[in-house]
Amino acid sequence: MAQYQYILVERDERVGIVTLNRPEQLNALNFQLVGELGDALQEFDRDETIGCIIITGSGEKSFAAGADIKEMADKSPIEMMISGFEAWGAIRHIRTPLIAAVNGYALGGGCELALHCDMIVASENVRFGQPEIGLGIIPGAGGTQRLARTLGKYRTMEMVLTGAQISAQELAEHGLVNRVVPKGEHLTEAIKLAKLVAAQAPIAARLAKEAVQAAFETSLEEGLEIERKNFFLLFSTEDMREGMRAFTEKRKPQFKGK
Ligand code: CAA
Repeated sequence: MAQYQYILVERDERVGIVTLNRPEQLNALNFQLVGELGDALQEFDRDETIGCIIITGSGEKSFAAGADIKEMADKSPIEMMISGFEAWGAIRHIRTPLIAAVNGYALGGGCELALHCDMIVASENVRFGQPEIGLGIIPGAGGTQRLARTLGKYRTMEMVLTGAQISAQELAEHGLVNRVVPKGEHLTEAIKLAKLVAAQAPIAARLAKEAVQAAFETSLEEGLEIERKNFFLLFSTEDMREGMRAFTEKRKPQFKGK
């Protein structure tokens, strides 16, 4: 596995875990960190023995307090586009299911990183927010779009226009997180959830993710078409035969990712 400066990479059975590791800077997302994160996620994505990936942050205070403001302060638009934001595209295109295990602050790019994930497990002390307006900018890694599609227009407008933070309880009320757990238990709970995903047929899990994502990116008709094609495609897999045979034979399926 590659060596990284700002992230830690480990695995627990079929679960890959990437930890943002700049706790003294509240895991602020400098360019190198985001690049390393993109590389590590792509490496796990290519690994057939990984069925689910968790992204979490080190330290007790923060998942990630956003893009690194000190690094960005004197950048030009072109520098932001090339060195700062290319890696977000890599994160967006990961096919393996992603779970964010969030503790403390998830602000700016940190909130947006959690929103890139397919499921979110949050400690009760989480604070999600898009404070960019206070810096004279706006969210740039998907916050306006992903929040609007999940939280709705009015709460999103308030967050983006005032920088207001949102608590774990409110996130749960809006269905924006899968679980809220006592402080410090976010990773343990995320690993449990990830193992449930990683135990499924891997190709089916990827195609299921793609189909659900399509609901946010296409018309209903196009989304239904993607779902139907993925459904039919799965009838070409050995795992589909195994899953149905195991049901008939009243045993647990042994999926191979084929
Ligand atoms: N960038 C760079 N450094 C950061 C940072 C960030 N986003 N967030 C925190 N830090 C650093 C602080 O500068 C401080 O470092 P020093 O000790 O070297 O001074 C250290 O982390 C601890 O932070 P604080 O002392 O500020 O901790 P606090 O508990 O008093 O406050 C906080 C915590 C409310 C999260 C506060 O740190 C804060 O407001 N951070 C910035 C949040 C923000 O505006 N994020 C959006 C960034 S822009 C963006 O993300 C754009 C995008 O869409 C991609």
